[in-house]
Amino acid sequence: MTLRGKLGFIGGGRMGEALIQGILRTEIITAADIMVTDPVSSRREYLAKTYRVNSFDSGEDDHVWSGCSTVILAVKPQIMEEVLKDARDRINDSHLLISIAAGIKTSLIDANLTRCNCRIIRVMPNTPAFVLEAASALCHGPRATREDMETALAIFNSIGRAIILDEKYFDAVTGLSGSGPAYVFTCIEPLIDAGLKVGLNRSDAELLVMQTVLGSVKLAMASNEHPAQLRAMVTSPGGTTIAGLHELEAAGFSGIIMDAVEAATERSKELGK
Ligand SMILES: NC(=O)c1ccc[n+]([C@@H]2O[C@H](COP(=O)([O-])OP(=O)(O)OC[C@H]3O[C@@H](n4cnc5c(N)ncnc54)[C@H](OP(=O)(O)O)[C@@H]3O)[C@@H](O)[C@H]2O)c1
Repeated sequence: MTLRGKLGFIGGGRMGEALIQGILRTEIITAADIMVTDPVSSRREYLAKTYRVNSFDSGEDDHVWSGCSTVILAVKPQIMEEVLKDARDRINDSHLLISIAAGIKTSLIDANLTRCNCRIIRVMPNTPAFVLEAASALCHGPRATREDMETALAIFNSIGRAIILDEKYFDAVTGLSGSGPAYVFTCIEPLIDAGLKVGLNRSDAELLVMQTVLGSVKLAMASNEHPAQLRAMVTSPGGTTIAGLHELEAAGFSGIIMDAVEAATERSKELGK
């Protein structure tokens, strides 16, 4: 797929950069057709030098709004309303807006654009975007077409894997994959410490844990087996793995993980009110 028209970014921070990196890798658009605004001059220079994209001061965002048919809103959620109100006169019916701001509903974006009927899509990516392995959920906002969703899928598949979901699931997505990297890191850290506890040095423990996690994920993704079946493959009767699994389950490990995701989902709902 090739993206039609130019692609703009309002906000050239970490997530904006990850998207630029991924998009350029897939060659669905060239660097010359990407425009970014950011208030920090060193950031603009860095993006222009590293990726050869066109960068502008945030006060000159009219270049982006007049030059780009698709614009990704990659600013912090706290300033989203201010940014939209400020750009209201420059956003028109021909724009496709794609917001990645956590917790900002498409209805709120629409409500801040009273003078136009542009199409809106909301996306929830996660931090593995920085290594082009994000898990992203996309939802239709007002007026977004099937073609718009395909455009957004092409963009977000360039930084990992993306699926389309109804917006009513976005609090669950926030609790599961949005917060998910933190749960994984919280498992990785004590695994490394456990390696030390049983006598390994730190660098050996780190390598063994990281490669075990990476390899297990790759195995689970490549296999058609249920995770329980993959676990059974390493669990022999009276063996070492069942001794370790017994400790995890005695402490309620599965329930704790489910409670964590549920608590994060509830918190996302509260913050969205
Ligand atoms: N990072 C994640 O894992 C993640 C995951 C899911 C969703 N998101 C969402 O992605 C969005 C961006 O996150 P991020 O991690 O990339 O944040 P970030 O690194 O802070 O990037 C935001 C960038 O926008 C700039 N900016 C501020 N005001 C602006 C304006 N008026 N016009 C243009 N640019 C402006 C900021 O500059 P200053 O630094 O000077 O303010 C900063 O460079 C957020 O809404 C966040 O909720 C992030």
